[in-house]
Amino acid sequence: MIIGVVGTGVMGRGIAQLFVQSGHEVRLFDAEAGAAEAAYAAIMAMLERLAAKGSITAAALDAARPRLLVCASLPDLAGCAVVVEAIIEALAPKQALFADLEPIIGEAAILASNTSSLTVSAIAARCAVPGRVAGLHFFNPVPLMKIAEIIPGLRTDPAVIETLRALIAGTGHQAVTAADQPGFLINHAGRGLYGEGFRLVEENVSDFAGIDRIMRDGSGFRMGPFELMDLTGLDVSAKVMQSIFDQFQQEPRYRPSALTAPRLAAGLFGRKTGEGFYKYEDGLKVEPGEQRPPEAPPGITVFVQEGARRDELAARLVRAGASITHDSAAADIILLMPWGEDITTAALRLRLNPARCAGVDPLMQWERRLALMLSPATTPFAANAAHALLAADGSKVTVIADSPGFVTQRIIAMIVNIGCEIAQRGIARAAEIDPAIQLGLGYPAGPLALGDRIGPARIVQILETIQHITGDLRYRPSLWLRRRAMLGLSLLHEGQPR
Ligand SMILES: NC(=O)c1ccc[n+]([C@@H]2O[C@H](COP(=O)([O-])OP(=O)(O)OC[C@H]3O[C@@H](n4cnc5c(N)ncnc54)[C@H](O)[C@@H]3O)[C@@H](O)[C@H]2O)c1
Repeated sequence: MIIGVVGTGVMGRGIAQLFVQSGHEVRLFDAEAGAAEAAYAAIMAMLERLAAKGSITAAALDAARPRLLVCASLPDLAGCAVVVEAIIEALAPKQALFADLEPIIGEAAILASNTSSLTVSAIAARCAVPGRVAGLHFFNPVPLMKIAEIIPGLRTDPAVIETLRALIAGTGHQAVTAADQPGFLINHAGRGLYGEGFRLVEENVSDFAGIDRIMRDGSGFRMGPFELMDLTGLDVSAKVMQSIFDQFQQEPRYRPSALTAPRLAAGLFGRKTGEGFYKYEDGLKVEPGEQRPPEAPPGITVFVQEGARRDELAARLVRAGASITHDSAAADIILLMPWGEDITTAALRLRLNPARCAGVDPLMQWERRLALMLSPATTPFAANAAHALLAADGSKVTVIADSPGFVTQRIIAMIVNIGCEIAQRGIARAAEIDPAIQLGLGYPAGPLALGDRIGPARIVQILETIQHITGDLRYRPSLWLRRRAMLGLSLLHEGQPR
């Protein structure tokens, strides 16, 4: 196939490299003089590096050379079956480009836009044949991020979507069809981690590094929300947050944070400016030091509240030298493992003395890290003793302030809920949501599988409890989630086609 790539910046180069490597002829065009030539040189240098490393064969490199061409003007794209635009992210230039291309390309040729935030239907609106226009959204760096979203505009011919899906499948990337809705599938799904991360810091539950450590160590995420935003750049992430919130008509689930504006004003964008949520030295993140655990006072007696991991927690405490009592009134410390509750609410519900109560998040992978949660009434003695006992065997412990659902329950429940909402809105088929999100966002599992693993009913319980305690509608469970939890069905269950 002959494929045109217009706009040969970061994304255009990656897209061109992917298609050339997959055996297509690729024609590069950029409005800025010399830009397409620079892209050509960069792509060739990249392919040569891959050949030198043995990632591609010398024969593949030789075959690729004549397939990549630089175009001096738009009419040179005349023979293309598909033209992908990756120009500036603004509606008018994209509409103008497609209108200019229409008389040049053949009747059956496809116009694809790599837009991340504009409406595909709007980009198509000024074309004579809007049916030939679709979104084809890649992620940076294109050759390594093995996923592309294919977005039909409201007037896109279904055959165009089939052709683009086959084209993407031929590159070895995964194709996912997503509706022409704000953030499509993957950027929409990303709201859970970022949005709830910010909410936790706004509530002073922990600091940025504390939240990241809990998500990384305790939940198996490759990176926490703030490390990730430092990588993407807060300048980019903040715009996406605001745009998705506005496009969804101020839906509270996507509410951005007041913490971003001062950071943007101060130029704390992340790695690209040398400082964001973290400082960077020689390109490496400086990890802030962690609180050292206190020494455990001897002879501590602990009451551990009933729960699925009660015996496991009690055994840890005994190994650390504590004794377990079944009389809460006789205990120095009372440890709770609530779902969706904060320690204040749980202690009062259970008629336990809040001054002696602390919580341990039952959702976390304790072999890597524990979160110890304190109520405002927890005494320093109880807090220190609990911290010392949990850390006695060298385990990492993050102490957090009272939060309904700790850190992981809140963030994961939001990720699951937004994944369910994507399914409920029909933005993508349930079966395609998880693989796309795993590839696009690097999560340990997709949101629907994560929800199934924890249990849909438990996710509903967490969300409803947080909603009850905070009064915030952002936590209301998606209908997709609520119904499947009530019916005992998997979150991947589509139901009957309409
Ligand atoms: N950078 C990302 O991570 C990312 C990810 C997904 C999608 N996108 C989208 O991809 C598109 C390109 O982003 P980028 O980061 O590669 O930008 P970029 O600034 O690196 O490159 C844009 C290129 O387009 C050229 N250009 C601008 N207007 C043009 C026109 N009218 N005709 C021809 N060429 C023109 C510029 O000269 C430049 O070379 C945007 O729509 C962006 O939203 C970016």
